[in-house]
Amino acid sequence: MARHALLIFSGQTHCKMFQFLMLSVLLLGTCLASPQLAGIKEINDELSRLREDMNNLNKKITKFGESFYTVHKARSFATGSEKLYTTNDQEGNFEEANATCIQAGGHIPSPKKEGEKKALQKVLERRNQSTFIENQDSANSANWAPGEPKNADGTKNCVKTNKDGKLHAACCEEKLLIVCEFSFVP
Ligand SMILES: *[C@@H]1O[C@H](CO)[C@@H](O)[C@H](O)[C@H]1NC(C)=O
Ligand SMILES: *[C@@H]1O[C@H](CO)[C@@H](O)[C@H](O)[C@H]1NC(C)=O
Repeated sequence: MARHALLIFSGQTHCKMFQFLMLSVLLLGTCLASPQLAGIKEINDELSRLREDMNNLNKKITKFGESFYTVHKARSFATGSEKLYTTNDQEGNFEEANATCIQAGGHIPSPKKEGEKKALQKVLERRNQSTFIENQDSANSANWAPGEPKNADGTKNCVKTNKDGKLHAACCEEKLLIVCEFSFVP
């Protein structure tokens, strides 16, 4: 009787232990699997959100670009130049002018097209002043004022232009109106 009871007891114990083991495996499986599944779903949701954000951003950039181009075209139409020439109404030698322009996101003027030259001249005409222009473009220029470049003593290694659009050799230490060139379209 006592042995029987022990057998039944141990049988029940085995059964309970088996159930417990199965339950543990199931729980373990669930624990292992579900965070991964939840993780993948979260990543997918996040990707969808990002994709949507990107699409919205793309639309905004396109719109912004179109508005920008319209303003650019209108401005170019008015000045006849795609490049913008502006002054901060200060004077400086070449080095100062160069540094100022670069810091402002522009550079020393180097007008090439006729419209660009006219646009620069307009700025100089309003101020009745001269400004430095890039030297390397001037070498073969037909725009030298008569008798220029007058650099016999080698001290005038810079080039300036005035409201007439004529080029003159200039001392780089001369203080001239700071005019910078800005390009919008590469
Ligand atoms: C203009 O300034 C920049 C930055 O300081 C410099 O790298 C560049 O050589 C200068 N250009 C000239 C022509 O001096
Ligand atoms: C422009 O400047 C020049 C010399 O820098 C001067 O002789 C001339 O009178 C000025 N013209 C005007 C309209 O101010």
